[in-house]
Amino acid sequence: MWRKLDNLNRIAETGIVLIIRLDSEEEALAVADAAVEGGIKALEITMSVPNALGIIRTLSNKYKNDDVLVGAGTILDAETARAAILAGAEMLVSPQLNPDMIRVANRYQAVTISGAYTPTEIFDTLQAGADIVKLFPAETLGPQFVKTVTAPLPQAPIVPTGGVTPQNVQEWLQAGCIGVGVGSYITKAAQQDGDYSRVTAAAREFLAAVAAAR
Ligand code: 3PG
Repeated sequence: MWRKLDNLNRIAETGIVLIIRLDSEEEALAVADAAVEGGIKALEITMSVPNALGIIRTLSNKYKNDDVLVGAGTILDAETARAAILAGAEMLVSPQLNPDMIRVANRYQAVTISGAYTPTEIFDTLQAGADIVKLFPAETLGPQFVKTVTAPLPQAPIVPTGGVTPQNVQEWLQAGCIGVGVGSYITKAAQQDGDYSRVTAAAREFLAAVAAAR
């Protein structure tokens, strides 16, 4: 139980879940290391990355004694949820409401971040036992949606994902989000020239923007 609380704290502390959705295993591992060096404490490896389970196993072993939460994203069924947990994932994320994933995760005390897009889905996500609501795709809703929906649903811990940048993160946090999901701004920072120090720098920039907005 304490482990789960510690893991939730890792997300709360930095306010960022880094979503690694890349086309190569090598790149995903390099991006993860560079982002951790930049201060990221919650890594979501999406199941669409080649050998995602192998990456999760490697990273969860590597960062076992560090302050880093390693999880799996794009979980669409209970089988994948369990496979990810056996590989070492301590956080499971789905783009949509997935009660099967939440059930499996809760059985193992893994953190759950489950997708929702409407007030009904946000409500159902909490009702299904998710820890955090992933507002997805957030860019088509905007921060005002969060402000409006958390008036009747103030208990909803919302993490918007899709299109969040250091430039707009303040609006999301001020609207009432507890943190943000971030992908390409950090993970694709090295794609032009393969210089992963750009990923570290983008992570630092993003973390500073979150800290300044709180
Ligand atoms: C994803 O699932 O890949 C996220 O939506 C990432 O969004 P972003 O790249 O716009 O941050």
